[in-house]
Amino acid sequence: MVSEDQLKGYRARVEDVLARTLPSAETLPTDLHEAMRYATLGGGKRLRACLVYATGEALGAALAALDPAAAAVELIHAYSLVHDDLPCMDDDDMRRGRPSCHKAFGEATALLAGDALQTQAFTVLATAEMLSARARIRMVEELARASGSLGMAGGQALDLKAGPVATIEMLEERHGRKTGALIHAAVRLGALTAAPEIPAALDDYGRALGLAFQIADDLLDVEGVAMVVGKTIGADAAAGKATFASVLGVAEARRRAHGLYEDGLASLRFLGDNGRLLATIAHYAVERDH
Ligand code: IPE
Ligand code: IPE
Ligand code: MG
Ligand code: MG
Ligand code: MG
Repeated sequence: MVSEDQLKGYRARVEDVLARTLPSAETLPTDLHEAMRYATLGGGKRLRACLVYATGEALGAALAALDPAAAAVELIHAYSLVHDDLPCMDDDDMRRGRPSCHKAFGEATALLAGDALQTQAFTVLATAEMLSARARIRMVEELARASGSLGMAGGQALDLKAGPVATIEMLEERHGRKTGALIHAAVRLGALTAAPEIPAALDDYGRALGLAFQIADDLLDVEGVAMVVGKTIGADAAAGKATFASVLGVAEARRRAHGLYEDGLASLRFLGDNGRLLATIAHYAVERDH
């Protein structure tokens, strides 16, 4: 309960930072700025921002110092969702319970909104005055690597090629990149805000959580309720893409997500009581209904 309140506070906080960071919808070009705000604000679980705040606070960082990293990962995430939904990718009409960005604003504007959200993320980090210049550069590098061809964008490229057959190793590679890399980066950015050295156990936690989160996403695509999930159900099967659910079956995929959750908890032991919130987030990542 206490943890839940804290997470609610984190969500409200990043929502506020994002609302202030994004250009106003009255600023020219208005349709582009409206699309950026539409894709970023008023929806989403804010899991990545919560990870930044919870990791940073566990290691002693101040909330205000964590705002730039929390906003930056959510901006990259929002951009990735806008592009993920485009007809040339997953061709999804619904996102966060409403029409996806290209359905609301058209494909060209959605493409540009994604581009501009990405650059906005790096602007936020590069101009974070409360962080040292060294920390800012380190964070830009971390986020760029996690979002690029060796991280999220690379995972999305693997996803485009995915067919109905895959080994567990192939799934781990694809999921680890397309989703895991940014979740892992959220943990690393939170840690970097507190100190330049990132505890190795937090990397283990971030990796386990990233994979568990995407397995849960695959399961929701099979078992979820569209009204609750806020996106089209059955999209992976319709696209003929192998997922943990299709390769292992629902029950075994769930067991695997739980195994990763347990691994994640074990990695948090070094934090003692300070790791409580990160444990709650991990539980939520595998037990969620949306
Ligand atoms: C959806 O991410 C896309 C994946 C990487 C699986 P989330 O489930 O975190 O989406 P929001 O931010 O809550 O809408
Ligand atoms: C999305 O994976 C990963 C990224 C957006 C990088 P999915 O395609 O499974 O996400 P949803 O199910 O559309 O949210
Ligand atoms: Mg996709
Ligand atoms: Mg998709
Ligand atoms: Mg999915």
